[in-house]
Amino acid sequence: MMICLSIKAKTAATAAKYVKNAVRTDLIELRLDYIKDINANKLERILKSTKRELIITDRKERMDLLIRSIELGADYIDIDIFAGTKKINKLIAAKCKTKTKLIVSYHDFEKTDKKELNTKYSRIKKLKPDIIKMAALANSIEDNIIMFDLIKKAEKECHKIIALCMGEKGEVSRILSPLLGSEITYGSIKHGLESAPGQVPVEVLKNTYRIDKLKNPDIFGLVGNPVKHSKGIYLHNDRFRKLKKNCIYLNFCADDIGKFIIDFRQLISGLSVTIPFKKDIIEYLDKTEETAHITDAVNTVIKKGGKLIGYNTDIAGAVKAIKEKTSIENKKVLLVGAGGAASAIAYGIVKEKGKLTIINRTEKKARYLAGKLGCKAADFSGISNLKDIDIVINGTSVGMWPDIKKTPVPKNVLKKIKGKRCTVFDTVYNPEMTKLLQDAKTLGCELVYGKKMFEYQARLQQDLFSKV
Ligand code: ATR
Repeated sequence: MMICLSIKAKTAATAAKYVKNAVRTDLIELRLDYIKDINANKLERILKSTKRELIITDRKERMDLLIRSIELGADYIDIDIFAGTKKINKLIAAKCKTKTKLIVSYHDFEKTDKKELNTKYSRIKKLKPDIIKMAALANSIEDNIIMFDLIKKAEKECHKIIALCMGEKGEVSRILSPLLGSEITYGSIKHGLESAPGQVPVEVLKNTYRIDKLKNPDIFGLVGNPVKHSKGIYLHNDRFRKLKKNCIYLNFCADDIGKFIIDFRQLISGLSVTIPFKKDIIEYLDKTEETAHITDAVNTVIKKGGKLIGYNTDIAGAVKAIKEKTSIENKKVLLVGAGGAASAIAYGIVKEKGKLTIINRTEKKARYLAGKLGCKAADFSGISNLKDIDIVINGTSVGMWPDIKKTPVPKNVLKKIKGKRCTVFDTVYNPEMTKLLQDAKTLGCELVYGKKMFEYQARLQQDLFSKV
């Protein structure tokens, strides 16, 4: 497997600069079609300026430039199947007895269609290129599985393949395909300089995901929607690196948790679960451990003996974060929210013998949760009637980026209901200092940051992941 730095530059001079400055990469792809002033002489200068392996790709499929690249000793040339058999056969003849390898590629910028991809794969196979390349736009996270299946098929048939999904939903394949048998993955110089949609910077592929250091790793990840803001990829991959584990952790942005689990259960070893799937995932699991069962919310999934088991580490994470600042027993606690995260916190508070009142936008859900745990529920509009609250907790997503000016408890209300010594805990950790915490600080309250709960629950999750 090789990581290829794909270079997108408007002029030959810029392309030459990028090639010269390319470090920490085995392979460079030069996209001639982006370079406005490219000609045979400038191409020669660039090719001779580096000792690194080069892929020459020209989506305008100009034969003079491609044949010149072969003569100049390019390591690979890439031509699209749409260029036609005549051109491709001409290149096969030109590269014969040279070291140049031919990649024949197929692109679909609209969809990932299994049938279509298999047809094109067979057509390319017949041309006998050195490498078959398939790239298609992912419209769902599950589309990546179609590419992974194609990699398996090529492996069985002893064909070298590069298979990836493009677009934001295809990012997963850019990280995992090379680990599953795809010959090359393409990365960008940095965000904003992608030569194809969804490319991940080479630095991120190497430093965050360490894909060049792993071999058939156990695959973990965060499933949710959205997932982009999550810091889990840094935290978990870093811990795997420190523990010298052959494991990887990435973000899975799913639209339908049922479809995701059905398609990915074979591939994954464990999951973190976030908004909005903490409850919905349960029906697709084989078993839930007590904490998940009682709270009706799962934030961690582990695969054991092929069975998916749900856990909830939010409870212990939240309790630990709060107890660093205040005891819970006999304290008057107000919790806003009744979703997955809030249910876990509510369970933790009741177990620690806090006197809990739950309020939620949808009151029915607050009443249901309170009934299950044997605590109180109040009407959202009646929040101002509460008083002497020792601990205020936001268990909703209100205040999360980008809506950072929002707060679930307005400052004047917080001032009215808080006790003399009040602790305010916001489960939102992006931003770290939410509007609720800012208000609480000016009112002299003790603060508990969502980041702490996140770190503690992630550590517990890591312990579970490490045992797989
Ligand atoms: P999670 O698993 O992270 O808890 P969830 O189960 O979807 O996610 O729950 C989200 C919580 O945030 C719910 O309590 C939700 O209130 P509803 O039950 O009324 O949906 C709350 N929430 C989300 N957006 C909100 C908003 N704009 N105002 C008030 N509450 C909100």
